[in-house]
This record gives sequence, C-alpha cells and structure tokens, in this order.
Amino acid sequence: MRKIGVVGIGHVGATVAHLIVSQGLADALVLVDKNPDKLASEVLDFRDAASLLPQHVTVTAGTTADLGDADVVISALGHIDLIQPGGDRFTELRANTPEVQQVGTDLKHAGFQGVLIVISNPVDVMTGLYQQVTGLPTQQVFGTGTYLDTARLKRALGDALNIDPRSVSGYMLGEHGASQFAAWSTVRALGQTATELAATYQLDLAQIAADARDGGFTVFAGKKYTNFAIAHAAVALAQLVLSDARQEAIVSHYDHQFDSYISTPAIIGRGGIVGDFSLALTSAEQASLKQSAAAIAEKTAAYL
Ligand code: LAC
Repeated sequence: MRKIGVVGIGHVGATVAHLIVSQGLADALVLVDKNPDKLASEVLDFRDAASLLPQHVTVTAGTTADLGDADVVISALGHIDLIQPGGDRFTELRANTPEVQQVGTDLKHAGFQGVLIVISNPVDVMTGLYQQVTGLPTQQVFGTGTYLDTARLKRALGDALNIDPRSVSGYMLGEHGASQFAAWSTVRALGQTATELAATYQLDLAQIAADARDGGFTVFAGKKYTNFAIAHAAVALAQLVLSDARQEAIVSHYDHQFDSYISTPAIIGRGGIVGDFSLALTSAEQASLKQSAAAIAEKTAAYL
C-alpha cells in the first residue's frame, strides 16, 4: 500500500492532494492542517469525488501522528499572505520556522522513516531545518527547490523557440530565490547549446534567465499565490520516489561543500536522493553557485 501525507492544505497542499487523487498516486492519502473545519471540508470534497474517479484512493483527515508509516510526506505549509509583490520568500522564514519544527518533531515521534519532500519556503532553509529536527538521513529529505524554476526556464526558452518546453533540457541552479541562475552550459534544445541557440535564433539569454528566476513573482502578481506548477513539481518528484525511478532531477538537497541545502541535480528513487554527482560547470557557474549558497546563509541570518 502506498501512503502519502500532505501537511498544510492551503492553495498548494490542496492542489498537491488533487493531483495525487486524480493520478491515483497513492492508495491512502492523509491530509493534515491546523484548521480542523477547513480540513474536514477538503476531505469531504475529495470523498464526494470518489465515485467519479478511475481508481480508489482513501482520503482521510489526520494529524502528523498518523504519518509514521507514510512512504512520502509533502510539506506544503506556509504563510503566503506575508509575501509582497516582487518580494523575497525569506519573508516567510520566521512564521514557518516554528511550524516546521513542530511538524518535524511530530514526524520523528511518529517514527516516520519515509521520504520528506519540502515545498515550504524559504525552501532551502526549511528543508535543512526539517532534516535537523527529524534526524532523518539527508538523502531522505529534499526540497522542490529550482525544479520549479527549471520548469520556468523551459517554458521561457520553449516560448522563445516556439517549441514544447519538454524539448528543452538544462538547469536553473542554486537558491529557490533571487540568487539562482541559469547554468547555460547545461542547456540544450534542438541539438544546440545555449550559445549556439542564442546566435541562431537571436535569443536574449539574460532576459530568458530573468524570466525564469522571477517567474514565481510574475504569477504571484495577478493571483497572490502560485499553486499549479509547484504542485505538479512536488507530485512528479513523489512519483519518482514511489516508483524508484532513479531519474535525474534537480532538487534542493544537502551539499557537503557548502554545508547547506541548495539545488543541483541528483538521482531520485525510493530512498530519496539515491545518487549524487557533480555537473561539469564553467568556473563562472561554479562561482555563481558558491555565491548563491552564501546568499542563502546571509539571508537566513538576516531574516531570523
Ligand atoms: C513558487 C513558489 C512555490 O516559486 O515559491 O511558485
């Protein structure tokens, strides 16, 4: 039996739950939220959908204590109301820290031994905090990080080339925030490198990278939250874990070099991070990654 827990049923958590139910990704889905009335309504709404679904998923309201035997837990808790247009995800740091500490402590007491996927922002810091509090091996705790910003890069470059974003490969690296950067040496489309694409199609690579980096706040500007892309990101990663896919994906995971959680690609499977490797980055890209790790540390100190 595949069991998934989702903690924090706001815009993002509800969309994550909806994708899990509609894709039949779990046999048991436990939803956890600090607002019991909202939680009961969300669960009943899903149960009303049960006779209309192609596969059975048992959806229940629970607490973190019910997640001890979960295969995957997704942390979607947050305080999006604290975010300003064009602001910084670190604005949520103070409000999210005690909640992450509580959920992490409860997961530990429940005996949780599965994989914890963190969406809660600032995701690089919250993922590290979850790892510390739960005491789980670093391989079992990772964040969505720049998996989402990488999808935005594929959207922006795909638009510029008038091709499906899935035809683009490559990565946004670093913080899920202002200091992330496009690692152009990793990017390919139409059989060409980014430098070749820029020359052939007169692309403004700096603008495309900025579009990816700022994409979260561009979406936020109109609706005051983001949910669909991040929920797809988290659920796609959960699917890689549950199916032991051993697929390369970019996630925020522990980096020994920086003693920090930060996004670089890794191999994702049943145990979480089941393989790690280093990209052959240019020296400028290596410097940007180091700067991004420093920015995460500086902002953590400044916002706490
Ligand atoms: C975003 C949120 C998840 O970038 O940080 O959409």
